[in-house]
Amino acid sequence: MMSTRLDLVFSKMSGDDLLITGGAGFLGYYLVQAPLAWNRENPSKPAIRVTVHDNFARGVPGWLSDLEDVALRIVTRSVLDPMPDDEPRFDWIIHAASIASPIYYRQFPIETMDANVDGLRLILDEMKDRADSENPVKGFLFFSTSEIYGDPDPAAIPTPETYRGSVSCTGPRACYDESKRYGETLCVNFAGQYGLPIGIARPFNNYGPGLRIDDGRVLPDYARNVLNGQDIVMLSDGKATRTFCYVADSVTGYYLILGGASAYPGESFNIGTDLPEIDMRDLADRVVALGREMFGYEGKIINETSADPEYLTDNPNRRCPIIDKARNLLGYEAEVDIDTGLRRALRWYEEQSER
Ligand SMILES: NC(=O)c1ccc[n+]([C@@H]2O[C@H](COP(=O)([O-])OP(=O)(O)OC[C@H]3O[C@@H](n4cnc5c(N)ncnc54)[C@H](O)[C@@H]3O)[C@@H](O)[C@H]2O)c1
Repeated sequence: MMSTRLDLVFSKMSGDDLLITGGAGFLGYYLVQAPLAWNRENPSKPAIRVTVHDNFARGVPGWLSDLEDVALRIVTRSVLDPMPDDEPRFDWIIHAASIASPIYYRQFPIETMDANVDGLRLILDEMKDRADSENPVKGFLFFSTSEIYGDPDPAAIPTPETYRGSVSCTGPRACYDESKRYGETLCVNFAGQYGLPIGIARPFNNYGPGLRIDDGRVLPDYARNVLNGQDIVMLSDGKATRTFCYVADSVTGYYLILGGASAYPGESFNIGTDLPEIDMRDLADRVVALGREMFGYEGKIINETSADPEYLTDNPNRRCPIIDKARNLLGYEAEVDIDTGLRRALRWYEEQSER
């Protein structure tokens, strides 16, 4: 059953065309499937037509190739290429295309910056050109990141949207952090100058179904160790802390921003959970305990040093959001507790490994 908040947003989008760039990625898993689920739950209302544009640089994920839905179109396109003439004039646009895993964006820094800056600019220019037409874009969501805060000053934890960040512009993570920062600057100024309905999301460590097991982010790494019956390998001292937000919760937040883009143009919102802030060792302990209970896992946690000398460079020590802005203005709330979410994620990884 869909939440009432999501139902309100999707009712607004009923009968419209929605474009999701980067829809084959982790967040795409829910971003794409949520409106299709709403269509199925509301057969009497005009369907939301969903189009995914993705360059599929890492292939087409199984969950997407298996999706058969008349309201879904999948197009192979880089967001750096001009919009094909035969595409619909999209009513709603979500720009999620970007390489998001530190392992991969450091291998492809230019591609990462291009998607966040040049790819974004193409969309903003199109929005500007259509602003006074009969079918202007009704709402646009740009995916920024909590990484725009860099490694925050301890006084700025938990972190509000007003914190300006402590970010390197030349370090190994800068291709990601700085292109997101400039992306936000583009959004704020296009919203202000041309009156465009643009919302900005700053996601804080989402996890859950859809996040590829080979993605290089921490939870899939641990899950792979558990499912392979290997020890969990920690490549740090385990002291860095994060709050982990289950993806179904955060995706509700993203759609609330999209639906509210005309009410709050140019505004950015932290989307994540404010509790509990746990360290990497605690996360590993929880995964081990769940692994024992769910799969009879017998491994333990071991520490190793990454072969990559830059693995931890500029890695934030603590990351925890204040989410009151999204809570108060959009009605956002994270509802799935960490152990329930981890259990669901591990079950999903197990199902994927059996495919
Ligand atoms: N998952 C998180 O916790 C998190 C945190 C902060 C920010 N974000 C942001 O949210 C968005 C989605 O994140 P994700 O975790 O789903 O990322 P992901 O890496 O899993 O997926 C991104 C998708 O974008 C596509 N892509 C990349 N460059 C492209 C291009 N030039 N043209 C077309 N497609 C392209 C990739 O093929 C991939 O399918 C990204 O912008 C990311 O930076 C995510």
